Amino acid sequence: MDHRIDFFIAILLLSFTNVDGKGNALNASEALQDDQLLTSTNGIFQLGFFNTTSSNIRYLGIWYNLPSKMIVWVANRDHPIISGSGTFYLSPAGTLFIQNSTGQDIWSTGSQFSQGEPQACLLDSGHLVVNDTETGKILWQSSYQLSDSLLANTPLGYVKLLDSTLEYQLSSWNSTGIDPSPGQYVRKFDPARKNELVTFKGSYVFYRTGPWNGTGWNGFPKMNKPELLRFHVSASDDGGYFWYEPINPLQLWIQVLNSSDGRTYRYYWNASNNNWALFWTAPDQSTPPYATCGPYGIYYDSTCHCCTGDFHYKKEDLDKQQFSGGCIRDRSLNGTYHKFVTVTNLKLPDTINAVANGTLSKSECESWCQKNSSCTAFAYIGWQGCLAWFGDIIDMQKFNPDDGYGDSLYIRVASKKGSHNWKIIFIIVGVGIAAVLILLAALILIRKLLIRWLFNKPLQTGENNPSDGEEDIQIFESFDFNTIRKATGDFSKANIIGEGQLGQVYEGVLDSGEEIAVKRLSKHASKGKEQLKNELYLLAKLKHRNLVKLKGFCVQQQEIMLCYEFMQNNSLDRMLFRLPEGASELNWEQRYKILQGISSGLLYLHEDNGDIVIHRDVKPGNILLDRKMVPKISDFGLARLYEEERSFFPNTSIVGTLGYMAPELQNGMLSTKADVYSFGMVILETISGERNTSHPTGLISLVLQYLNEGRLLELKDARLKEPCSEGEIRRCIHIALLCLLEEPQMRPNMREINVMLTSKSSPIPSLPHLSSFWGNVGPPTVVDSSSLLYHSL
Ligand SMILES: *[C@@H]1O[C@H](CO)[C@@H](O)[C@H](O)[C@H]1NC(C)=O
Ligand SMILES: *[C@@H]1O[C@H](CO)[C@@H](O)[C@H](O)[C@H]1NC(C)=O
Ligand SMILES: *[C@@H]1O[C@H](CO)[C@@H](O)[C@H](O)[C@H]1NC(C)=O
Ligand SMILES: *[C@@H]1O[C@H](CO)[C@@H](O)[C@H](O)[C@H]1NC(C)=O
Ligand SMILES: *[C@@H]1O[C@H](CO)[C@@H](O)[C@H](O)[C@H]1NC(C)=O
Ligand SMILES: *[C@@H]1O[C@H](CO)[C@@H](O)[C@H](O)[C@H]1NC(C)=O
Ligand SMILES: *[C@@H]1O[C@H](CO)[C@@H](O)[C@H](O)[C@H]1NC(C)=O
Ligand SMILES: *[C@@H]1O[C@H](CO)[C@@H](O)[C@H](O)[C@H]1NC(C)=O
Ligand SMILES: *[C@@H]1O[C@H](CO)[C@@H](O)[C@H](O)[C@H]1NC(C)=O
Ligand SMILES: *[C@@H]1O[C@H](CO)[C@@H](O)[C@H](O)[C@H]1NC(C)=O
Ligand SMILES: *[C@@H]1O[C@H](CO)[C@@H](O)[C@H](O)[C@H]1NC(C)=O
Repeated sequence: MDHRIDFFIAILLLSFTNVDGKGNALNASEALQDDQLLTSTNGIFQLGFFNTTSSNIRYLGIWYNLPSKMIVWVANRDHPIISGSGTFYLSPAGTLFIQNSTGQDIWSTGSQFSQGEPQACLLDSGHLVVNDTETGKILWQSSYQLSDSLLANTPLGYVKLLDSTLEYQLSSWNSTGIDPSPGQYVRKFDPARKNELVTFKGSYVFYRTGPWNGTGWNGFPKMNKPELLRFHVSASDDGGYFWYEPINPLQLWIQVLNSSDGRTYRYYWNASNNNWALFWTAPDQSTPPYATCGPYGIYYDSTCHCCTGDFHYKKEDLDKQQFSGGCIRDRSLNGTYHKFVTVTNLKLPDTINAVANGTLSKSECESWCQKNSSCTAFAYIGWQGCLAWFGDIIDMQKFNPDDGYGDSLYIRVASKKGSHNWKIIFIIVGVGIAAVLILLAALILIRKLLIRWLFNKPLQTGENNPSDGEEDIQIFESFDFNTIRKATGDFSKANIIGEGQLGQVYEGVLDSGEEIAVKRLSKHASKGKEQLKNELYLLAKLKHRNLVKLKGFCVQQQEIMLCYEFMQNNSLDRMLFRLPEGASELNWEQRYKILQGISSGLLYLHEDNGDIVIHRDVKPGNILLDRKMVPKISDFGLARLYEEERSFFPNTSIVGTLGYMAPELQNGMLSTKADVYSFGMVILETISGERNTSHPTGLISLVLQYLNEGRLLELKDARLKEPCSEGEIRRCIHIALLCLLEEPQMRPNMREINVMLTSKSSPIPSLPHLSSFWGNVGPPTVVDSSSLLYHSL
């Protein structure tokens, strides 16, 4: 099917008339009669009684109020009103009831304890929500009891309670369009697996999507349509959930679990023909039934294969083309020698018998699996990290490598001793040759050559004008090694003032009395050299009051040292979180000035230096403070020049510091907005005096909570004693929240932020709705799009 932009144009042409005048809400003790309807404010959803056949059987439900009615939710699926008409009412305590014609309650939402007047409201998002109008607390919502349909921004998942698990799952109708009672299919975000959606038919697995890999379900490539829908998964030890978000909020979507074939159908509304258009189904035609190829079998090219050459199907199974028995190992695993064979572009096996450990690196993952002989395979995927399987692996599908879908799986197989020896000999010879080469290179390279090599070649993406770097470098003074040694007391431990990415930083005093800071590249930091070159190149080029200034450098044999102006007040990190003895707290005025300074520095990096430079590691530890508390951005080791036409860096390794990294970096999207995000976090930390990472739920959740509870100013650092401007603090929090929006395009740029921070009368854009932060905050509650706006700051 051709999904083109035309359906984006789908503008709703709905009549906003409301026949029964019930509006969108039911007050306490109020009833909705059989012939009455609630209509959401935007007119898109209706709630009322309906029948599916000409019989008198009545249900209460919510549907899309469109020419082609689509029922999205049914209350009394199991308990229809058999004859006569029903009544729907809200008790004063906040419970919803359906009564049949003889006044008997046939359905309810269970005990509620509303402190004030409760109200039931049909929201613009299609959800029915009961809340306590006195406390605003949500008592119940229809998404707690999903039917066969999933609306946008609705969580599908589970919450672990002390002794049970609450699941928010879809279940198909018994028969589509006729009988809404729960049918044989259930689709859920399975708590027993590692973040994958599974459709069950009765108690059997019917289909699984594959685990979430940060960009999508590993086994469902169709989902890759970021221009139309965004998908989110959030999980912790206490629960997990999935939801989808239309990019165009006016576009209507629905996802239905079909009662007859068990597939999930995703539709959107096509306004040009007033009908629902099918977007995709999961599974689709190319997906084999669950476990078709059996353990260690892979579905590929419309048939089954064993996952590696170390396995085979039984001859009689092959003859009968009957693969579900799976593959057998050529050589059993009970010998001493094992190796891992890589299979790429794979829908990973069922995670029911997988164990996840997100803290392991890829090589740790391998050795973890290697060590435990019952570990049969492992994978290292985005977002989840290390997954290791124990026992047989099943339900794999290989995608066409040209499409790049799927992820790699490493499968344990037995290996012969001999092949190991060859490998070892190869490695030894290789290492030997490399060592000789390195030695030769070291001997040949005299100091001058090394310098030329360092500075002649511009770094990262600056290929276009190779002479620039060299000219700029001449601005730096070249220090003599003995001068530096003397200044730092022969690199005495007492003079160490910091530990950078590349090595130690020493304090020193030159003969002239001038104080300097010396960064000494650790000899072992091999990858540090790239970063150092980067830093030198950028510092040669960049000059600004709020960037740290390089005074000179020194090259001694292979060792390289950089000399910076000395910063009397160390770093913002030190001043906020690890205040040195005898130093006094930063007061609000100083903190505000520091934030302004950082924003000027970043603005210069992003826009005003003639190039676009992204720092990539903005955090209080990299904000140095001079005698007058003027902030200087430092540590350009990770920064990079930015080519405007290419905003996607698929091969960029994700770098930065946890707690300050923008969410889109996970997907390889790098732009100046990543620095904006980090700066937002620096603002919150500067105000609160607390590290983001040391707060259990993170500062963003904390702010949102304070915001919703109307006690925003409690975020303020308790150590800020003197009266400080509440207006400024509110303004800064507001700016920080804008910087921290999940969607990079929605964040302001540094120029706008700089204006907002420096000119107190300049307007600030209002905050968009809560879902913009959902990627960052804990458990979902469905909120009306109209009520999503924050309390004004
Ligand atoms: C419901 O209650 C609100 C105030 O709580 C009131 O303004 C409104 O008129 C009531 N609606 C009906 C239909 O009684
Ligand atoms: C519901 O019942 C009424 C009256 O029996 C009938 O006219 C109507 O067609 C039925 N609706 C559906 C969808 O069958
Ligand atoms: C109403 O519900 C009660 C209890 O389920 C049932 O006994 C009664 O027959 C129902 N009345 C009608 C008219 O269906
Ligand atoms: C909840 O109650 C408040 C009153 O506290 C009301 O203004 C709001 O519209 C209600 N929200 C929902 C989602 O029903
Ligand atoms: C679903 O429909 C079938 C056939 O109409 C019926 O036998 C079965 O009892 C129904 N299941 C439920 C749970 O109502
Ligand atoms: C379910 O699938 C059948 C065909 O397989 C289709 O005709 C029907 O419209 C589907 N139902 C829904 C609710 O999508
Ligand atoms: C939407 O409706 C128009 C008019 O019937 C049709 O031409 C178009 O193909 C439809 N779009 C999709 C994606 O089905
Ligand atoms: C090794 O595996 C083979 C075949 O799986 C089995 O027969 C044998 O008993 C195993 N040996 C040990 C020591 O487990
Ligand atoms: C992950 O691995 C680390 C290091 O081996 C270990 O300390 C940690 O407990 C593991 N976590 C889980 C959830 O297994
Ligand atoms: C191997 O892993 C399994 C599953 O995590 C565990 O039960 C078993 O104790 C482990 N064995 C060893 C030797 O660590
Ligand atoms: C996640 O899975 C999808 C679908 O197979 C694939 O296209 C994508 O490349 C994977 N992403 C990563 C980061 O592995």
